[in-house]
Amino acid sequence: MTYPLLTTSHLFAPIEIGPLKLNHRVAMAPLTRSRAGQPGNVPDAMNVEYYRQRASAALIISEATQISQQGQGYAWTPGIHTPEQIEGWRAVAAAVHAEGGRIFLQLWHVGRVSHPSFQPGGALPVAPSALPAPGKTFVVDASGKGVWADVPTPQALTTAGIAEIVRDYRQAARNAMAAGVDGVEIHAGNGYLLDQFINSASNHRTDAYGGSIENRARLLLEVVDAITAEVGPGRVGVRLTPMGRFMGMGDATPAATFGYIARRLNDWPLAYLHLVEPAMVGTVKDDIVDPRWDALILDMRATYHGVVMLAGGYDARSAEKAIADGRADIIAFGRPFIANPDLPWRLRTSAALNTPDPATFFGGTAVGYTDYPKAA
Ligand code: FNR
Repeated sequence: MTYPLLTTSHLFAPIEIGPLKLNHRVAMAPLTRSRAGQPGNVPDAMNVEYYRQRASAALIISEATQISQQGQGYAWTPGIHTPEQIEGWRAVAAAVHAEGGRIFLQLWHVGRVSHPSFQPGGALPVAPSALPAPGKTFVVDASGKGVWADVPTPQALTTAGIAEIVRDYRQAARNAMAAGVDGVEIHAGNGYLLDQFINSASNHRTDAYGGSIENRARLLLEVVDAITAEVGPGRVGVRLTPMGRFMGMGDATPAATFGYIARRLNDWPLAYLHLVEPAMVGTVKDDIVDPRWDALILDMRATYHGVVMLAGGYDARSAEKAIADGRADIIAFGRPFIANPDLPWRLRTSAALNTPDPATFFGGTAVGYTDYPKAA
């Protein structure tokens, strides 16, 4: 069966981000799959194969990857803070490059969404304020099985602790580039550490990192500054989930808060700004979409002068329209990429899509990971 090609596609027009020329605009969104090699949370041969299969993405953004042991919040997620992890990611980057693909590594610190079993010395997880997240995390029990566990009330970070985290981000970015990836994405959404600082619901600090919008955005901007200094221009993306409510997020003045961040991000030569539609943050489907979101995204799009990537519930038609309308420059696809390793080709040719199976999203074997078939 043959499929007509879209001759005037905006989605399949090339674009440059920093020094990289991308052939089209279908990116692979960051997707936690909790299948890193054990022990040590090291990318292994199965992970290499998964990313190799998806190298036809304009840009792969890796699954969230902890910058330090303190930054881990879920079982079996990969890190980028040990020599073994750097070698593991080197094999992933090499496989993607061998297929002509591009990959950024998503840098992650979960903050309060963690558990003492992941923390050095069994300590309490760290956060802007001693306020627990209204959620659970996934830990390993004594028999090696994954189980859901309540998160404890975290400890509020000292300013020395904050400075250490900025250093950890910078070191992680250096490690990622040493592994051969094309750039890094700073995960500043989904209720994790940087988002916990940004949102007034989770940040009750009274020092230079809390209170005003400038203070709540300070840690993110310090991280952006440190990482861009480390890896150079055009190789750092920032992912935000404005108005997301996952893990207890909420801000008193979202338009002002995220408008300020969008404006300030113009001060660094980033690769892109990546925003997620609030209807789909993480894996949680929010049934209430705040009507202020649409105005906020348009405002951030106008305020930020660089490349904008959008994600969340897109299909071929809505992605094409978003690019054509100037709402975004690149669209990232999450769940469709789990089930369709050759997603760009399928979108380009209107081929039928495989359906992703949520039962195999997190943890497990090659089933539901590297065994989704290509169309041709
Ligand atoms: C996600 N998402 C996500 N986001 C992120 O920034 N880092 C991550 O590691 C993950 N992990 C993750 C795992 C799984 C199994 C899902 C389904 C989602 C969110 C993801 O990048 C994307 O924004 C959403 O899936 C919405 O896009 P789609 O799936 O509607 O195209």
